[in-house]
Amino acid sequence: MALEEQKSSPLLGTGALAVDGTSYASAGPVLATVPPQIVFLNDRWLDRVVALDHMCIPNPWSRELFLKEFEKDISLAIGIVRGEELIAHCFSHLVAGELHVLNLAVAIDQWSRGYGRSLLCFALVQGVDEGAQFATLEVRASNLRAQKLYSGLGFRLVGIRREYYQDNREDALVLARTLARKDRTLFWDKVTSCRAPLNRMPLRGPQLSSV
Ligand SMILES: CC(C)(COP(=O)(O)OP(=O)(O)OC[C@H]1O[C@@H](n2cnc3c(N)ncnc32)[C@H](O)[C@@H]1OP(=O)(O)O)[C@@H](O)C(=O)NCCC(=O)NCCS
Repeated sequence: MALEEQKSSPLLGTGALAVDGTSYASAGPVLATVPPQIVFLNDRWLDRVVALDHMCIPNPWSRELFLKEFEKDISLAIGIVRGEELIAHCFSHLVAGELHVLNLAVAIDQWSRGYGRSLLCFALVQGVDEGAQFATLEVRASNLRAQKLYSGLGFRLVGIRREYYQDNREDALVLARTLARKDRTLFWDKVTSCRAPLNRMPLRGPQLSSV
């Protein structure tokens, strides 16, 4: 992805499009060459996180809920950004040896480009580094796209929460997989869309990059 964009950047002119369809008409050559990057999110990203969630989640989280996530010690909030644009976000809790993935969303016009898998795998790397022994998540029974992503990463069905989702009383599938140190390379190798400059999460530490 980054390579494709860098290749396209010399062609930038008025109204130019990158290979992914992004318009650079007003962005100018500097922003156009910025590659997607994984970062740890903070409340500076709150508006864009809320907007992204409303764009692609049937029952989006409230602004207050996201704000609380930024304040929790156990929270892992990561995103894929390109300059000031938020492409994807993922919120998880790291507690008691478990990485629990709460929210994963990719901007609709950026689907199927590897961002979802890259960001989830980055979260799994953080889980391994923090000593988590298993990862868990819930997914709607109808969300086959997400289920395909999760099963491809070794998640397996461990339970069903009947009528879990309040908006349509849909069942939630509970998925889990074990995590071991040997899995780190496997996950890291799947962070293909964008490599972060650091690969270890400083819990509540200084924010990664300049965001
Ligand atoms: C689910 C979601 C996060 C996937 O992100 P993405 O960036 O589109 O996915 P990726 O490009 O990384 O693809 C990863 C895998 O997802 C699945 N996938 C992606 N696009 C797909 C499509 N058009 N049809 C079916 N499966 C698809 C595939 O298994 C794919 O792996 P593969 O390319 O090896 O076959 C994204 O579609 C999304 O934000 N959906 C709305 C929110 C949501 O459902 N979140 C999950 C809640 S539990």
